Amino acid sequence: MYDIPSELTRIYSFLLILTVLTHPISATTAAAQELRKGFTATPDSSVTSFQPLLNDSVGNYSLGFLRVDKSQLALVVIHNPSKEQVWAAGKGLLSRWSSQTRLSFNGSLVITDARTRVLWSSHTHGDRVRLSNTSNLIIEKGGESFSIIWQSFDFPYNTLMEGQNFTSDMTLVSSNGMYTMKLGPDFIGFYAKFVASSDPGHLYFQHNPMEAKARVMEGGGPIRVVVSPDGFMGMYQNSTAPVDVQPFTSFQQPGTGNRRVRLEPDGNLIGYYWTRSSWLVDFKQVPDQCDLPSSCGPYGMCQRGKGCSCLDDRRSYTSGRCDTIRVSDDDLCRKKYTVLRKIGVELPNKEIMAYTIMNSLEKCARACEENCTCWGAVYSNTSGFCYTIDYPIQTIVEALDDTKVGYFKVREGAGKDNKLIGLWVGLGLLCGLVLLSLGIGGVFLYKRKSRGVKGYVEEDGGGVGPYKNLGSASFKSVELSVR
Ligand SMILES: *[C@@H]1O[C@H](CO)[C@@H](O)[C@H](O)[C@H]1NC(C)=O
Ligand SMILES: *[C@@H]1O[C@H](CO)[C@@H](O)[C@H](O)[C@H]1NC(C)=O
Ligand SMILES: *[C@@H]1O[C@H](CO)[C@@H](O)[C@H](O)[C@H]1NC(C)=O
Ligand SMILES: *[C@@H]1O[C@H](CO)[C@@H](O)[C@H](O)[C@H]1NC(C)=O
Ligand SMILES: *[C@@H]1O[C@H](CO)[C@@H](O)[C@H](O)[C@H]1NC(C)=O
Ligand SMILES: *[C@@H]1O[C@H](CO)[C@@H](O)[C@H](O)[C@H]1NC(C)=O
Ligand SMILES: *[C@@H]1O[C@H](CO)[C@@H](O)[C@H](O)[C@H]1NC(C)=O
Ligand SMILES: *[C@@H]1O[C@H](CO)[C@@H](O)[C@H](O)[C@H]1NC(C)=O
Repeated sequence: MYDIPSELTRIYSFLLILTVLTHPISATTAAAQELRKGFTATPDSSVTSFQPLLNDSVGNYSLGFLRVDKSQLALVVIHNPSKEQVWAAGKGLLSRWSSQTRLSFNGSLVITDARTRVLWSSHTHGDRVRLSNTSNLIIEKGGESFSIIWQSFDFPYNTLMEGQNFTSDMTLVSSNGMYTMKLGPDFIGFYAKFVASSDPGHLYFQHNPMEAKARVMEGGGPIRVVVSPDGFMGMYQNSTAPVDVQPFTSFQQPGTGNRRVRLEPDGNLIGYYWTRSSWLVDFKQVPDQCDLPSSCGPYGMCQRGKGCSCLDDRRSYTSGRCDTIRVSDDDLCRKKYTVLRKIGVELPNKEIMAYTIMNSLEKCARACEENCTCWGAVYSNTSGFCYTIDYPIQTIVEALDDTKVGYFKVREGAGKDNKLIGLWVGLGLLCGLVLLSLGIGGVFLYKRKSRGVKGYVEEDGGGVGPYKNLGSASFKSVELSVR
């Protein structure tokens, strides 16, 4: 009777010894240095931040599950000493941190959820997965010698590592999804998206090549950008001579470690190098904060060398912003707005913004006033340039001369004095309550009269509806005062 279990135990311990002997590393440590077909992993419920699954040869980088906002999971590559995230599968795609979520390698690296729905896949037929010592996640095919068939460097998220080619079919996206970097035929373009529907958004910064060593040839093929281990960001066309070199402050300094550049949540591209204990900044694509599209937030004003203030003088710049409500892509013709005019302002990077020529400020302002997708306009009295803004107003730059004037639409409630808002909230609440009780009373009476009639709410919608709307409008005001 007791023979079978003990026999099993003996077989198990034999197998265990065999595994330990044949796989001394993978059986004793948490993360392997390569993944083979048949590999699967699920998130461990006891892990609070990061669960490594695969390391590079020196242990600088790990691929693993990152826990985001307690219950979400992202598949990322991190730099171990600093815990900085340098890559994310599917541009930060999230799944649930649950034992039902699974990463497997069957030739493809695949993330599946509880219903074995494929959330992300490398779509490959490979034989092994490894991580290079510059953080490139690589899928290779072969037996004797391996060849790369897929690499994470071809699918960047917000970071470019040194040696990684950034080509015209790739984009970098900032972690907040607001900014993207893409290559044009002969420039690096930076785009901001303040309205959900606009893709890729509007161009807010452009870097053109210096063409000191080679020129960009029309029809000479697409360009690419690479961060060099020597400390510069080079742009190349099809020759080895760069068409552009942007040197970092640590240019050609010996002994500097790995480098990376990242598109930050403020829309700047920042370069870093590893000093063996921390990442130091050695490059800023946009040197002046005021040239970023939203450096002082919505309705903010950036003063060069001084900092932030608000477009509306009656408001003070506290806790990093000026407005009290989140401006979204509302239809400005149906929603009420007030107008804010400001003397001595201009758009950041106006050199690359589109304009029309008008012979007076009033014409420029009127063109915007009559247009439901226009949020504001900036007019230069000397040149006659009229710039219209077709996204919610972000940061405007203080100009040195008073001939540049801004016209901005401010959505009701957004630029008002707090006391006034309080009063309106009070009145709104009172009206809401009165109307709500009237409404309930009305429905109650109606219900009593038409007992047994189905669907009275739909039929009576005309009467109840407006009360509902008012009710929700006053709730919006409450939200306003809370923030
Ligand atoms: C992989 O890296 C993690 C984090 O640094 C470490 O805990 C683990 O021991 C490493 N595994 C191997 C095989 O180097
Ligand atoms: C790997 O698994 C995924 C998800 O189950 C499946 O869609 C895919 O066809 C598989 N690939 C191979 C090569 O078996
Ligand atoms: C990284 O790998 C490359 C080749 O794969 C090698 O030449 C280099 O010495 C490695 N660097 C480190 C720090 O291990
Ligand atoms: C980058 O592109 C160059 C030229 O096409 C190529 O030689 C190099 O191997 C590429 N590097 C990577 C990491 O893909
Ligand atoms: C490379 O650039 C030269 C001009 O410098 C051009 O004539 C040639 O067609 C280009 N080659 C390819 C493959 O695009
Ligand atoms: C990688 O590891 C080596 C050896 O531990 C270390 O000298 C180097 O600074 C590390 N590089 C990075 C970028 O972490
Ligand atoms: C309204 O403004 C948008 C962007 O500012 C512009 O594309 C559009 O043509 C304008 N419409 C009219 C009728 O002027
Ligand atoms: C704009 O120019 C006109 C005439 O050129 C002048 O009358 C007007 O005062 C100027 N307005 C501003 C705001 O500078």
